[in-house]
Amino acid sequence: MRTYFIAGNWKMNLSPKAGAELATAIKEKNTSSKVEIVVCPPALTIASVVASLKGSSIGVGVQNMYTESSGAFTGEVSAEMVQEAGAGYVILGHSERREYFGETDAFINKKTKKALAVGLTPIPCVGEVLAQRKEGKHIEVVSNQVKALIDGISKEEISKVVIAYEPVWAIGTGETASPEQAQEMHAVIRGILTDAYGSDTAEQVRILYGGSMKPENADELLAKKDVDGGLIGGASLKADSFLAIVNAAEKLS
Ligand code: PGA
Repeated sequence: MRTYFIAGNWKMNLSPKAGAELATAIKEKNTSSKVEIVVCPPALTIASVVASLKGSSIGVGVQNMYTESSGAFTGEVSAEMVQEAGAGYVILGHSERREYFGETDAFINKKTKKALAVGLTPIPCVGEVLAQRKEGKHIEVVSNQVKALIDGISKEEISKVVIAYEPVWAIGTGETASPEQAQEMHAVIRGILTDAYGSDTAEQVRILYGGSMKPENADELLAKKDVDGGLIGGASLKADSFLAIVNAAEKLS
């Protein structure tokens, strides 16, 4: 059975001080023991959050990194730096990075391989925009993103990858995919993994749903067979709402 995975994507919110306060509140109020919990603050907030979470099993991740280890890449951070700072996870290719920073499938594939090589757990994101869903192209679009994402990634490596399906029309909009829509796409993604790696391996990969997941809708989304957790934006910025989602996963564990 796959361990539920709940990750908070803080986006460009919470300074080192405010982030440390939220991390401390999450650590103190958390009662779950079966869920893998991760918070992903802005890179500058990593150090204070890592310090606040010391001694807890809550993991820390960043929201982006570069493909190279060091060098003349102004403004970027490397996987090695992320790891040395105490983070173990990295969100990659979030739709906001695809949209505002021009990240492509090939670039996200390269970043995923780099994260794996260094020992970080990559959380690459896929998802269709509203027009693509309206045109009935969502399955094709996401399938192509997933195929590009896993290109050249071995069977041993893929089980360490946590894939996030985030329909772009549901991110920050308050509109959520229905549990059926989420399950349909998660099953498609697992099918692609099965074709590429066989079902034993595909069954090990966690596939998260993201897009306006909140305490009110978490249980029914997480109850779906192929929904193994959530990537939470807005609702991860308060300890109580984030932990309510963690608790929904804990109950299903
Ligand atoms: P949201 O964001 O929960 O605020 O919709 C999710 C995400 O973008 O990861």
